[in-house]
Amino acid sequence: SANSPLLPRNDKGEPWVVQRSRPRRNRKTNAVREMVRENVVSPGNLVYPVFIHDEDHDEDIDVMPGCKRLSIQSLLKHAAQALDLGIGHIILFPKIEEHLKSNTADECYNPKGLVPSAIKALKEKFGSRITVWTDIALDPYSDQGHDGIVSNDSLGDGGCARILNDETVEQLCRQALCHARAGADIVAPSDMMDGRVGAIRDALDEEGFTDVSIVSYAAKYASSFYGPFRGALDSAPRETSRAPRDKKTYQMDPGNAREALREAAADLEEGADMLLVKPGVPYLDIIHLLYDAFPVPIAAYHVSGEYAMIKAAAQRGWIDEKQVVLETLLSLKRAGATSILTYYALEAAKWMQE
Ligand code: PBG
Repeated sequence: SANSPLLPRNDKGEPWVVQRSRPRRNRKTNAVREMVRENVVSPGNLVYPVFIHDEDHDEDIDVMPGCKRLSIQSLLKHAAQALDLGIGHIILFPKIEEHLKSNTADECYNPKGLVPSAIKALKEKFGSRITVWTDIALDPYSDQGHDGIVSNDSLGDGGCARILNDETVEQLCRQALCHARAGADIVAPSDMMDGRVGAIRDALDEEGFTDVSIVSYAAKYASSFYGPFRGALDSAPRETSRAPRDKKTYQMDPGNAREALREAAADLEEGADMLLVKPGVPYLDIIHLLYDAFPVPIAAYHVSGEYAMIKAAAQRGWIDEKQVVLETLLSLKRAGATSILTYYALEAAKWMQE
């Protein structure tokens, strides 16, 4: 009849779908879920990116609520906080004053500049307890807003000025050496010039800095997710530059996956210690691709635009910020990244300990 049971009954008299495989048994209690969980993110996986400037106060960054440009004094306080939360890595991004910028970006290797001063202050206070990373690229120091030197000719695409590869690599070597001399532990070239990892490795080794690591931004895409960062540092390609207003002649095309394998292989051959993929969540496939292809640690950069999107939705009460952030970081780890650069580092570490 209409009411007669369709299914047999179990020993509690409940309907019972006859089947041997029940994946839900591995999710039945918190203890079981914890036992079978493949990936966990802990504060030790996080790298804390900080913006610094040559001022004695902090300044809010409107497009990245919760982030500030820090004075060196305040940088030391934030680093102490990070260490207390179990985060041992910090990466520095300087806002350089306009009058110090030039096409050749020579300020990037000024031993008395902002970044070397910040490295020295961190190392004096925390020694080896903190691992200091620096970004190697010309853009914060470039009056063109480019990661490389802009040519004087108009031989590039559409009659634009070109970004000069090898001349730029020479400056990047000077920059990396300057940071190593100040005490940097890891240099991270983010410029995407060809051959820069090998050239930097040689320059470092020649001065005896064989222990300074290179984390190469191997797969860095020409992404629109960097917008807030460029606002924070006033480092976007300039309208006044004769070079294109985007970075597509050096950063990778978002349509390409296999090209990441080529970039990564070259960087490893040249001596990179870790490979970084950037942005993060929109490029989880690339993280996984590199993870499968190369037996080296992978880092992921959860970039400014990704941060800003979560912040904006959270501020409107549309998402649960804590849960969304922790799930996001977990997805980066699951894809294959053991190091995660995120502006949420301090908050995430707090949430992990709750
Ligand atoms: C500089 C650099 C950029 C970022 C990190 N290093 C900007 C860019 O390439 O234009 C972006 C990071 C972020 O958006 O959070 N080469």
